[in-house]
Amino acid sequence: MKQWGGRFQQKTDKLVEEFNASLGFDHRLYYYDIMGSKAHARMLGQTSIISEDEAELIIGGLEKVREDIEKGRVELSTDLEDIHTAVEKNLVDKIGSVGGKLHTARSRNDQIALDIRLFLRDASASLQDKILIFMESLLEMAHKYKNYIMPGYTHLQRAQPVTLGHHLLAYYFKLKRDYEKLKEGYSRINILPLGSCALAGTSFPIDREFVAEELNFDDISKNSMDAVSERDFLIEFLSTAATLIMHLSRFSEELIIWSTSEFDFIELADSYTTGSSIMPQKKNPDVAELVRGKTGRIYGHLQQLLTTLKGLPLAYNKDLQEDKEGVFDTVDTLNIILDIFPGMLESMSVNREKMLTAARTGFTSATELANFLVRQGIPFRDAHGIVGKAVLFALKEDVELTEISLSEWKNLFPDKEELFDEDLFDALDVKTCVEGTISRGGPAPEETQKVAEQEKKWLNTEREKIPCLYRC
Ligand code: ARG
Repeated sequence: MKQWGGRFQQKTDKLVEEFNASLGFDHRLYYYDIMGSKAHARMLGQTSIISEDEAELIIGGLEKVREDIEKGRVELSTDLEDIHTAVEKNLVDKIGSVGGKLHTARSRNDQIALDIRLFLRDASASLQDKILIFMESLLEMAHKYKNYIMPGYTHLQRAQPVTLGHHLLAYYFKLKRDYEKLKEGYSRINILPLGSCALAGTSFPIDREFVAEELNFDDISKNSMDAVSERDFLIEFLSTAATLIMHLSRFSEELIIWSTSEFDFIELADSYTTGSSIMPQKKNPDVAELVRGKTGRIYGHLQQLLTTLKGLPLAYNKDLQEDKEGVFDTVDTLNIILDIFPGMLESMSVNREKMLTAARTGFTSATELANFLVRQGIPFRDAHGIVGKAVLFALKEDVELTEISLSEWKNLFPDKEELFDEDLFDALDVKTCVEGTISRGGPAPEETQKVAEQEKKWLNTEREKIPCLYRC
């Protein structure tokens, strides 16, 4: 069955039919398609465009079609073209030709624009929820590991001591921004396009506000040509998704590095790793690698949709059918990753001693030593030079700064002897270094604790703001 055909004299070529059909993937929208159709039918009845009885008949029929689809009783073959045709055909099979009245004052162009918005609304809400759950788990870990000293890196060279808690909290804030972007994007998704019809509205006295209220939209679209031709809300979503997975990919990369025997900072649990078919000793961080690996496909989906849209004249073009699969894949990929990632982190074991030893080597307290000199009146630039000289000496002697004795310090800088006393060793201690970083947003355990507590309060109120899911 087709929703068109009157003006055609030849049958559609079989391959063309296959090529043209979207049912293979848009069947996934059946729930939202029926939800939108029910609201539309109710509005047609309310406005007397069709009779109230006809509207009721159609609504009841649509409910039965939904049940049939869910019970696998509907054959979704490609000659039905798309989900809209499939639903309408099954409706007409059930209630007769009155089912054909459903498509009054509507086009598949505004129908698909509606369906994808309904789908994305739920997808965004559920991803928002999962990100908040992940963030909560990061806050707990930030608290748990706030005293676990580790080297912080720049250029992947040991730089200054931080804590694992502080490092994890960095990801909390990256995810927080992703969450906020999804939340803001939701308001641009939640606009009703239905009633724009093919592109030019309709001469029927439809009530778009009624439909918007039925479907819980915040507003209605204000230009029919914009509404049926635009997919920028999908691009916005994909862009946030791309940033989110970029963050998770960086996180994964760290877990991969940290679990190498070269670093040996953490061990991922057996349940989140895999073995090798040939090397019996191997334990591979496949999950983290796959998260990193899947990043490319989400970037690809964003790039694909941008490219699909870039040359399209207004209003609807069939190219727009290509908007769905990348979005579905992005939603599925992020859902499973967000389900797995927090558990992977929570179950990892942390080699606290290894981290501490690493933090104690590689001159990570050199900056703090310069600060120690600055506190005695030496300009920072000179202090930097003094410590640099000391590092050179330590490298030559193959020792750490902490292993240079007080008399050696004095010998090294004979004209500045008075600067060096026992307090120097305190300044060089990584624990003193970390605890002394009292600047706001710094790695001091006390600061981590404070920030984590503030964020926990924010999280608790935020979880109540997640939009409800329409598909239960
Ligand atoms: N399957 C189509 C899509 O996904 C539905 C809209 C079809 N509209 C049309 N004028 N052929 O975009």
